[in-house]
Amino acid sequence: MSTNSSDLEAYWLPYTANRDFKAKPRIIRAASGHHYTAEDGSRLYDMFSGLWTSGVGHCHPKIVAAVQKQVAELDYCMGFQVTNDKAFELANRATAMAPDGINHCFFTNSGSESVDTALKIALGYHRARGEGNRTRLIGREKGYHGVNFGGMSVGGIVPNRKIFSANLIPGVDHIRHTHDLERNAFNRGQPEYGAELAEDLQRLCALHDGSNIAAVIVEPVAGSCGILPPPIGYLKRLREICDEHGILLIFDEVITAFGRVGEAFGAERFGVTPDIITTAKGLTNGVIPMGAVFVRDSIYDAFMQGPEHMVELFHGYTYSGHPVAAAAGLATMDIYAEEGIFEQARGLEQHFEDLLHSFADHKHVIDIRNFGLMGAIELSARDGAAGARGVEVHKKCFWDENLVIRNSMDIIQFSPFLNSDPDEMQASFEGVRRVLDSVE
Ligand SMILES: Cc1ncc(COP(=O)(O)O)c(C=O)c1O
Repeated sequence: MSTNSSDLEAYWLPYTANRDFKAKPRIIRAASGHHYTAEDGSRLYDMFSGLWTSGVGHCHPKIVAAVQKQVAELDYCMGFQVTNDKAFELANRATAMAPDGINHCFFTNSGSESVDTALKIALGYHRARGEGNRTRLIGREKGYHGVNFGGMSVGGIVPNRKIFSANLIPGVDHIRHTHDLERNAFNRGQPEYGAELAEDLQRLCALHDGSNIAAVIVEPVAGSCGILPPPIGYLKRLREICDEHGILLIFDEVITAFGRVGEAFGAERFGVTPDIITTAKGLTNGVIPMGAVFVRDSIYDAFMQGPEHMVELFHGYTYSGHPVAAAAGLATMDIYAEEGIFEQARGLEQHFEDLLHSFADHKHVIDIRNFGLMGAIELSARDGAAGARGVEVHKKCFWDENLVIRNSMDIIQFSPFLNSDPDEMQASFEGVRRVLDSVE
């Protein structure tokens, strides 16, 4: 069955050019493994593994079975003062994968909620320790931390903030981004130049006084702005400056956690341990919405004081720790371990990097950036029509080559499955090349 154009009006699509989309929709009705099936029956190869979500492939039988079983056994139960068994099991499994000293997690339903939860935990932590003056939050230019007011305010992607400019939360500032086309273009992996940009945090500590700053939040590898791996030494230096001033360091690992950079967490891959880690997406392989905020023991412990009958943190969602989401998460954790998914992802990195960088001399390409299984090819913008070439490539990939990719303006992005078949990966990039050759 295909959707009539009159059936398309009610749904206001997120982050989509609605009128353009509805003129010629791209609608998926099924998925299996590494492929989608579109409404017209065509089979598409998913080069974005969902939306960074579905690293082990779509409709993995083990997750499907776990969800089906759980929904028939316990569909929902309240999560405040009463809760379900699966939420505890998942918290234990997931924290066991986290860096040393991080043994507690708080469940949310999305990356945006994880970020706002993390910011609130950071503020509450300082207050609980008698440092309630630490209220400033520091983000980074070009950062993406979801779309809720906290995450949007610490975020640094201009179109996301533009129409809310007067309504962003107060007390936020930003360090400079690390994008440096002049020094780092076509770099493979972590750029050589730019560690000194971490010193920008010292500037903000001097300006606001470090004793007023609660937390700094960064993505270890900035994703949504178009893949900016951290310059070598940069994250370590941020950690040192945070320690010097008593500031909490939050890694937003909504994309980088659970194998995307070849380890359970980016923190592990980069050898830098933050105080709080925000996650979502790969926690359940995207099957049921769920996020988790991981915190250091000292943060959890700071809240666990005062009368024991009192709620320690006045925060939580109706669906925090949802049993069906937790069941999906548990099955996902099993697959990560049983199928050696993170090792597979690590093993694919070189192949992926080589495929991406084979576009280096293409006439439209001005930069290529990658880390782990995150990759971006930046195209030059057409005169007076920024973003037009990128979206055309996206659409042509879909219509002409049966490939799903993502574009953010003129940056085309790739998020291969963590268990991709190297030949399929290669064939998909051949399709992208045909498209790039065909656009003006
Ligand atoms: C780093 C980061 N933080 C937060 C989010 C927001 O997650 P969600 O869309 O699940 O709210 C995203 C989404 O891509 C993200 O990449």
